[in-house]
Amino acid sequence: MVLSVKHLLGIKELNVKDIEQIFQTADNFKQVLQRSIKKVPTLRDITVANIFFENSTRTRLSFELAEKRLGADVVNFSASGSSVSKGETLIDTVNNILAMKVDMVVMRHSASGAPWFLANHINASIINAGDGINEHPTQALLDAYSIREKLGDLKGKRITIIGDIMHSRVALSNIYCLNKLGAEVTVSGPPTLIPKHIASLGVRVEYNVKKALEWCDVANVLRIQLERQHKPLFSTLREYALYYGVNRSMLDSLKRDIIIMHPGPINRGVEINSDVADSKHSIILGQVENGVAIRMAVIYLLSGKREMEQ
Ligand code: CP
Repeated sequence: MVLSVKHLLGIKELNVKDIEQIFQTADNFKQVLQRSIKKVPTLRDITVANIFFENSTRTRLSFELAEKRLGADVVNFSASGSSVSKGETLIDTVNNILAMKVDMVVMRHSASGAPWFLANHINASIINAGDGINEHPTQALLDAYSIREKLGDLKGKRITIIGDIMHSRVALSNIYCLNKLGAEVTVSGPPTLIPKHIASLGVRVEYNVKKALEWCDVANVLRIQLERQHKPLFSTLREYALYYGVNRSMLDSLKRDIIIMHPGPINRGVEINSDVADSKHSIILGQVENGVAIRMAVIYLLSGKREMEQ
């Protein structure tokens, strides 16, 4: 069992068979994670380096746990406190880590395209853990996997992605993944946070959040990425919450139950209220739980490809 790719750089490069194979493998690993001993020795000959040039809580811990659950050796690198501050380049940093006999690199970087650049310069398999505003492939896989777990086959299911679509790598990877799996996607939020040509990716645009919620089976609510906005794109967070935040009264006014998702980190009271994030409709912590099984599956399947190419 191998994927069609040597690296997991983006969902764009995966085919439907790859995604289904990742899901089936994650099903098996999810069973392992329910046992009292949540480990398999499958990758005990592999060393993985997690190199994070940007902050992370969920993705970083989830990858580290996934690697350890597979029996791999793990090293962690953060740009802060490293020799990057002394001027070392990305390629030099990674080649020095690889010189210590590392087989696989999981990388988060603020520059869109950084993992593709690295893939052209080093030999190890690379997994993109989020690059700038471009892709966050394992987040999209765990999101789609979580919907599949709740609703079954994604074909024809209606997913609304709400919020800062413009600056969200989660939105782009989700759109690619959901489209490949046959789901219908609508994006919603302020016009200034939705790219002008987004419809060319095969999604609907609905600026009215209430209408977007009425249409969907699942709402994936995203954070406003203030750190990536270099000029004001809406008036105030209070006004954003008023017009685009998902609150309990909106959910109560819908004619049926919908599933609420959020990739985290949540800004409570801005894009989502606590009475929605913590409600019975929310699968936010289920997404986090599934992230470990999905990342175990990705690492396991890529390690097979690596062995074949040796
Ligand atoms: N969802 C996500 O990528 O969260 P972190 O930034 O905490 O990794």
